[in-house]
Amino acid sequence: HRARPRVVFGHVLHFFKDPGDPPDPTAWELFEDGALAIGEDGKVTYAGPARDLPEQLRNGAETIDHRGRLIVPGFVDTHIHAAQVDVIASYGKQLLEWLETYVFPAEAKFDRAAHARALAGYFLDRLLAAGTTTATVFPTVHPASVDAFFEQSRQRGLRMLCGKVLMDREPYAPPYLRDRSVAEAEQQTRELIGRWHGKDRLGYSVTPRFAPTSTEPMLAMTGRLLQEHPDLWLQTHAAENKDEVALVKKLFGGRSYIDVYERYGLLTKRSLFAHCIHIDATDRARLAAAGSSVAFCPTSNLFLGSGLFDFHAARRSKVSVGLGTDVGAGTSYSLLTTLNEAYKVATLRGKTLSAYRGFYLATLGGAQALDLDDVIGNFRPGKEADFTVLDFTATETLARRTEVAKDFTERLFALMILGDERAVAATYAQGHLVHDRDSGRALT
Ligand code: GUN
Ligand code: ZN
Repeated sequence: HRARPRVVFGHVLHFFKDPGDPPDPTAWELFEDGALAIGEDGKVTYAGPARDLPEQLRNGAETIDHRGRLIVPGFVDTHIHAAQVDVIASYGKQLLEWLETYVFPAEAKFDRAAHARALAGYFLDRLLAAGTTTATVFPTVHPASVDAFFEQSRQRGLRMLCGKVLMDREPYAPPYLRDRSVAEAEQQTRELIGRWHGKDRLGYSVTPRFAPTSTEPMLAMTGRLLQEHPDLWLQTHAAENKDEVALVKKLFGGRSYIDVYERYGLLTKRSLFAHCIHIDATDRARLAAAGSSVAFCPTSNLFLGSGLFDFHAARRSKVSVGLGTDVGAGTSYSLLTTLNEAYKVATLRGKTLSAYRGFYLATLGGAQALDLDDVIGNFRPGKEADFTVLDFTATETLARRTEVAKDFTERLFALMILGDERAVAATYAQGHLVHDRDSGRALT
């Protein structure tokens, strides 16, 4: 992936920390006449005013002109399902029934490797079209679904996390989509770790689906793996839906849902819990103490009627939070659309979400939630140059609102509320173009 050094011109915006509420302007840098320079190794060499770009970086560099557009770090989706592309927008049910009716039959088709490969490519095209360059991804219980996803992420030069779904508990894991034994699931997981973890930009995330589909020996095995390899990630679901929470109480007892995961050693610095809507102050304190993160998935939480995540309580308790689309319960691949819904969830709770905090969440906040902020998330020199180019004129509605806006802050908020894939003009990974809206297709 070596290439000529390049310089991209446009409005450049990136973050150093959570701006908080009200937003603290020392949390970000905005260069309205900005430049982003990328070395031949695909890493950032400069982000700043175009007029201060060092001569030696401009000389001999390829120039890419995105003036008038907004260049931000590639979006980070902290929770999504690659095997649910065909169940997005499935009608009429809450979590447990929705899984049984739509999700498990769709995931069962991934026992065919050709299907897994075809859908992995389609899925990555959707992410890149949405401006997302890093995600932590649930495939299915089938090891070939992990191979398909990692192979195609690697070909595109993307930084991605994934791991075989673990699910072995009767009757909640259906017979046609179930690990036959903990020993076999462990063997498959160890083989996949050996094949993919740390290869190029890929990382392995141990993936017990959620407590109800897990036996106690499966959760114990998961905890042992994490202890043995502290550089692995963990992803699962927690406290999404009230019936689910009651079921976990019945199956596992314990003080709370989070307490069940903690019992098996699943709360680590690299653990990512999707949803966490129905948690309390003790759960937040436990998550914060462990350095674990929560994926806030508002389009999913509203679609399935799961509830309103208390983002402000989580951040007040110092829990790290990223945004997740959670497709297929989520209804969009776009983190802009996700921010639009996150804003509405905040207003329903009597709070708010500024555009600065929103764009922080979609970029550096996600990278911090995944413990990847040493390599991605902003444009500090040396970071990998994954970035997204956003177009304020993408739709009539956005163009008009942008035109009448009194300042950049208003324009950024309009983009957060009105933007979606149409506003993503181009997506780059390690400085390479991987999606070009106007050519009408994703590039590989
Ligand atoms: N809980 C367990 N599995 C799933 C899933 O596939 N989607 C969602 N939204 N919640 C889950
Ligand atoms: Zn999910």
